[in-house]
Amino acid sequence: MLHASVTVDPAFVVGPVRRRTFGSFVEHLGRCVYTGIHDPAADCADEDGFRTDVIDHTRALGISTVRYPGGNFVSGYRWEDGIGPVDDRPRRLDLAWHSTEPNTIGVDEFMKWTVKSGTEAMMAINLGTRGIESALDLLEYCNVPGGTYWSDLRRANGAEDPYRIKMWCLGNEMDGPWQVGASTAEEYGRLAARTAAAMRRLDPEIELVACGSSASHMPTFGEWERTVLTHTYEHVDYISAHAYYYETDGDLDSFLASAVDMDHFIDSVAAAADQVRAAKKTDKRIHISFDEWNVWYQRRAESRPPSGDDWPVAPVLLEDHYNVADAVVVGNLLISLLRHTDRVHAASLAQLVNVIAPIMTEPGGRSWRQTTFHPFAQASTLAKGDVLNVAIDGPDYETKKFGNVPVLDAVATHDPDTGEVVIFAVNRSTTEQLTLDVNLAAFPGLRLLDATTLSNPDHTWTATADDDSTVTPVPNTTATVDAGRFAAELPPVSWNVIRLGK
Ligand code: AHR
Repeated sequence: MLHASVTVDPAFVVGPVRRRTFGSFVEHLGRCVYTGIHDPAADCADEDGFRTDVIDHTRALGISTVRYPGGNFVSGYRWEDGIGPVDDRPRRLDLAWHSTEPNTIGVDEFMKWTVKSGTEAMMAINLGTRGIESALDLLEYCNVPGGTYWSDLRRANGAEDPYRIKMWCLGNEMDGPWQVGASTAEEYGRLAARTAAAMRRLDPEIELVACGSSASHMPTFGEWERTVLTHTYEHVDYISAHAYYYETDGDLDSFLASAVDMDHFIDSVAAAADQVRAAKKTDKRIHISFDEWNVWYQRRAESRPPSGDDWPVAPVLLEDHYNVADAVVVGNLLISLLRHTDRVHAASLAQLVNVIAPIMTEPGGRSWRQTTFHPFAQASTLAKGDVLNVAIDGPDYETKKFGNVPVLDAVATHDPDTGEVVIFAVNRSTTEQLTLDVNLAAFPGLRLLDATTLSNPDHTWTATADDDSTVTPVPNTTATVDAGRFAAELPPVSWNVIRLGK
């Protein structure tokens, strides 16, 4: 039997819980847009063809920002193809995903969807095949009230008021050889700096994200960040980070410790940004937009794009089906993002619907929630106030990828307005139950409001359209609070949420 002690104290504040930590991503990829958010054939479709069930799931997830329209897709995208009368819009080849883009959905439809789903758009511009001019045109179309060519065209297309989109990504993964228009750090850094400076002249209120490396294992990781930020530091607010994790060769122990890698990655990106800060002798800090993260089984057949003469519209792509262990990892990655709230100011779960997503749909049919839906929804709706670092004293276990790592990982939030304390915790052991003992002496008089656990004796259990509710977070009946101490048994491979209040 394993045992871990945790101390939670309101003095250990890392920073505020940021709503933008709970963002997601809608890319024109596979069935994310078509038959995902938009599916006129579905019974639940509204007057604009949007699936109302997906909107309901999105609201239940507590999604804040939604990155759009890509991803790899954006690097070959002409945004003007997606405006005006739908019947006049061109069909184009999407070189990123070897698909045909019908352009039925474009910026105006997407912005309508953000209003319906209560989300904030995070717009990406194409710095693969395009540059400053098309970025300025899109910004003018979106954010200028009227009286100019592009803003009046938006009004003519039905959107009287400007969208005033705040967050803008300066391209996507521009270091990746798979990217249309992939660049060196020098080439990209110079283009991003000039584009950012021009965009800010048009709208000084916007927040800009420069592309970081597409993954920490890229050979240029670190040096890419240094070069890009050397060019862009004065003009941008964020550097992006992307990370996907998956279980390889049955190594569940390492997979469950994926957040160890995310912690290290965030610290490394921050260090690279601070190196430039030091060289520039400036007080300004660049924050991290972790705008792609998730579990993604990239080697599975579902992730292979079509080829040859086959350029389908909205093919099945990246449709991973997640099990309970995947959900525990997603929960643990959220713990990592929260405990870096001083540096990670925005994040996007990639993606929202059908494509490596917490929400799945059948074309024209049912929708359902994957296992990964639950930790995200709980963290997003329950984390409030300040993020607290917690002191953990517990056992380690050996992993092939990361060496010795703690069995228990946890973070807490404290809402000074309500006094509520929420602890998010994972037990990474694949075999052992863990007794969690929390010292609450610094919070006199707290009582247990609620404790839930997501786990299953078979951690490979996977939700389907027929059954997405057999395994969900359920009350943890072992949880108690007594004399300033919380205690509970956490099953192996489990995600746990403990709410304490007055
Ligand atoms: O989210 C899927 C893909 O992963 C995105 O299009 C790309 O940016 C990343 O490589």
